[in-house]
Amino acid sequence: MPLRLLQLTDLHLFGDSSGQLLGMTTRDSFEAVLELALSSSPPAGALILSGDLVHDETPAGYRYLRETLKRTELPHFCVAGNHDDLALMDTYLGSAAVGPVALRRLDDWNLVFLDSSVPGSDGGHLTEAQMNQLSDLLAGNSAPTMIFLHHHPVPIQSAWMDTMGVDNGTELMELCEQHPQVKAILFGHVHQAFMVRHGGCSVLGTPSTCFQFLPGSKDFAIDTSPPGYRELLLYPDGHFTTEIVRLDQYAEQPLHQAEGY
Ligand SMILES: [Fe+2]
Repeated sequence: MPLRLLQLTDLHLFGDSSGQLLGMTTRDSFEAVLELALSSSPPAGALILSGDLVHDETPAGYRYLRETLKRTELPHFCVAGNHDDLALMDTYLGSAAVGPVALRRLDDWNLVFLDSSVPGSDGGHLTEAQMNQLSDLLAGNSAPTMIFLHHHPVPIQSAWMDTMGVDNGTELMELCEQHPQVKAILFGHVHQAFMVRHGGCSVLGTPSTCFQFLPGSKDFAIDTSPPGYRELLLYPDGHFTTEIVRLDQYAEQPLHQAEGY
């Protein structure tokens, strides 16, 4: 049986259950996506949340997230986004808050989590210390590996979004090139599905559990695609398959005329 992972990202939750962003009640759309993800089979082995967890960065928002994740009874791992508070993540999510560089072994696979967030910035960065730690870790562990972080390490061909990826993403890509056991690098932040091959490594962006950005857009633009998540099936021989799964006809629509958030 493959290991089934569910990546949910960019929840943008609020402490208040009715909190909205760009016209979407983010707690409702997160719960709908989570329910869909948990309803399909085979049963998931773990949940991965790749940042922008709590938009208003409130204790109530992180407490809600902790309780919701606990109810799934699945191992779960959370990395920080640009809309997150590291201290509150530590307090409320405890050992589920992973970073600045963390390795977790699940079955035959290594999952590596990187905190690419930079306080006060929407863009991402990996420090020299993180890069050194990652380099050591990859040199010492040859099991098939997936790397999760919030920001995109390669351009996604969307000019406004590409000003706020990982500013030294090229270093990450070059390091991974030297370590063929890295099968995929996965991120959130871009609120859209994205996929490019970099040698033997897949570089994968995942839709948000709330509103989506229009792929390929030069400027900020909202897309009509419904909320979704990414499913990953990881096989013992080191290959994997993945697909994006979205809600059907989600009733609440984001404000398409918005010019920013
Ligand atoms: Fe986001």
